[in-house]
Amino acid sequence: MTVPIPAEDPRHVPNRAVIDPSAITYNTRQITGVLEEQTALMAIVKADGYGHGMLTAARAALEGGATWLGAAHPASALALSRAGLDVPILTWLFEPSTAQVVLPEVIKAGVDVSVGSELMLRMVADAARAADRRARVHIKIDTGMGRGGVVPSRVRELGHAATSDDYLSIAAAWTHLSAADDPSDPMTDQQVETFDAAFAQLCEEVGPVPLQHISATAATLTRPELHRDLVRIGIGLYGYPPVPSPVRLRPALTLTTRVAMVKEVPAGSTVGYGHIHTTDQPTRLGLLPIGYADGLHRASSGKVEVLVRTRSGYQAARQVGRISMDQIVVDLGPESRAQAGDEVVLFGEVLDGLLPDEEGRALTVPTAADWAEAGGTIPYEVLTSVSASVPRQVKG
Ligand SMILES: Cc1ncc(COP(=O)(O)O)c(C=O)c1O
Repeated sequence: MTVPIPAEDPRHVPNRAVIDPSAITYNTRQITGVLEEQTALMAIVKADGYGHGMLTAARAALEGGATWLGAAHPASALALSRAGLDVPILTWLFEPSTAQVVLPEVIKAGVDVSVGSELMLRMVADAARAADRRARVHIKIDTGMGRGGVVPSRVRELGHAATSDDYLSIAAAWTHLSAADDPSDPMTDQQVETFDAAFAQLCEEVGPVPLQHISATAATLTRPELHRDLVRIGIGLYGYPPVPSPVRLRPALTLTTRVAMVKEVPAGSTVGYGHIHTTDQPTRLGLLPIGYADGLHRASSGKVEVLVRTRSGYQAARQVGRISMDQIVVDLGPESRAQAGDEVVLFGEVLDGLLPDEEGRALTVPTAADWAEAGGTIPYEVLTSVSASVPRQVKG
């Protein structure tokens, strides 16, 4: 066989991000199952569906009962619409130059647009005029997140400006919580109070506002009274609850590689940059061709285990030494039967039911949450860090 150009053809890379759309569908069903009756679920598929592939994630979530889609960038929202996903879509992050080019198309496609300032309102109104179609706007209220959104004292003015323009209609008001992943943080209640007061003012100014939405995954799982008309679910779709919850979710992305080399080393052997690891017994080291350029966080070095699928079953193996740009080393142990070519699961789900190891001990599959804890970050960052250099393989 000839190697095609470019030589980086994904078929020649041993690493895979295996996406299981049925897990996203399952997770969506699990979450719709706990929603208040009037509440719809918006599937958040920004950042390429948290690394799972935007369209794959969107289709799977719609199959599980999502009836809205949300994407930060207007270009992503447009791609969802152009893919024929015929549900309401919300987009919320733009600046003047992209707004000028993309927003008219977005509005023509019937996508809802968030507005959190007078300038954004003008951009949307101009785009709506260019598209000759009325834009549906969601008024974003900054209740303490301090990112996008109008400060509560300016909500009336913004609402007034929106209703004064025939090319705009107010479809919703919304906010984003900054600390819902810590149910003991009083900030959530403060934000909700601020939102409710601002919402009341907005309604006084412009009349009834059809929809309100506040909650992402964390508040959805912990605060049913905050479900309101719509919840915006991201990380839950992908299998990682950001708060302890009885709702069972399955990881939808499994990161795999293959063993490149196994070697026997004596006790006292050093491993990797900075020789931060020294073997304490004669052992076998496995070299894996995946590293921080592929999305593994260097800060996780030496703190995670992976699963190696050997001839005689899965075994756990600790990653040792510093994570390099394109490779890591695992300590397989002196008796390991692992060999070059064996598949390795870095994190995710193992679907063929296997979990006892060679000695019949139960093994658990490492998760993005384990990597996050090891690296001092959150599963969101672990998932979205899996780089474009890792081919996505969608399970059929
Ligand atoms: C505005 C907005 N809503 C909802 C979400 C989804 O959050 P989560 O992934 O915690 O469900 C995000 C993601 O950060 C977001 O930016």
